[in-house]
Amino acid sequence: MFSYRHAFHAGNHADVLKHMVLIQLLQHLNQKDTPYMVIDTHAGAGTYLLDGEYATKSGEADSGIGQLWESQDTPEIVTDYLDQIRELNPSGRLRHYPGSPFLAEHIMREQDRLRLFEMHPTDVRQLQENFRKLISHKVANGVELPARGKRVMIQRADGYAGLKALLPPPSRRALVLIDPSYEDKDDYRKVRVAVDEAQKRFATGTYAVWYPALARLEAQQLPERLKRCAASDWLHVVLSIGGYAEGQGLHSSGMFVINPPWTLKAKLEQALPWLANLLGHGNGSFLVQSGTAARAPKERSA
Ligand SMILES: C[S@@+](CC[C@H](N)C(=O)[O-])C[C@H]1O[C@@H](n2cnc3c(N)ncnc32)[C@H](O)[C@@H]1O
Repeated sequence: MFSYRHAFHAGNHADVLKHMVLIQLLQHLNQKDTPYMVIDTHAGAGTYLLDGEYATKSGEADSGIGQLWESQDTPEIVTDYLDQIRELNPSGRLRHYPGSPFLAEHIMREQDRLRLFEMHPTDVRQLQENFRKLISHKVANGVELPARGKRVMIQRADGYAGLKALLPPPSRRALVLIDPSYEDKDDYRKVRVAVDEAQKRFATGTYAVWYPALARLEAQQLPERLKRCAASDWLHVVLSIGGYAEGQGLHSSGMFVINPPWTLKAKLEQALPWLANLLGHGNGSFLVQSGTAARAPKERSA
């Protein structure tokens, strides 16, 4: 239990896909003034050092952000993603990689709320420390923090149980990111049950689930099960960088989004061919599908 550390994987091709989609979901929520809540059920450490011990040992960022960093003339949503990473690396040297909690904190407004769950004792301590440093930095730079209510809350607790307790959110607007490590194969079942129960409490929320697109049966079945339990529109995107035999590391991952912004599918269809070609060195592929709870899915693939 708890052998997974996201620091080994930060900035890899799977993080690129997940964080690129996450940024689009957050920027879409910012289009209305009404406050929203972001719930990150599996938060990790918040931010990572790409020249730190774990990242240099694995070299995984080379399959993702490392390939993109110097790119020019990128598709719109890749540019939005790179802009976020560049803001965290103002010197121009790629050193810091933001996890989902730091991306959410950076994009959401003063009136919005971020609720983070992390179970790993070391990662939750790092998450707290990373946010403490971020808030001290903001205060030192004259940023005014909300007078009432905590903008960011971090709990060392089970994210599936934590999610249940937070829904429906007071403002009736929320984005839920469910991003387990799937170290425990029961995560595939827990994700589906969590989405099912969450929609019963709060059907209009946006739910984003990341998963590893592995050959194992549970991974193959997850998107099909999510399609069946989706109570409204859904979007499914898979990015494969190809080139590796099964068992030699993750080469394909997916994001399943319930209640996505209606503009997102076209943006993904524009970006994914470019991204799959670059990250896959000519062997990459992708899938972008959408559907509604009532209608048959519309599909497009490479
Ligand atoms: C894939 S990582 C999260 C990465 C993060 N969302 C990001 O994009 O930067 C999954 C994390 O979930 C944590 N975790 C595992 N089981 C959990 C649970 N039941 N509740 C909350 N966190 C859990 C792991 O310790 C790990 O740090």
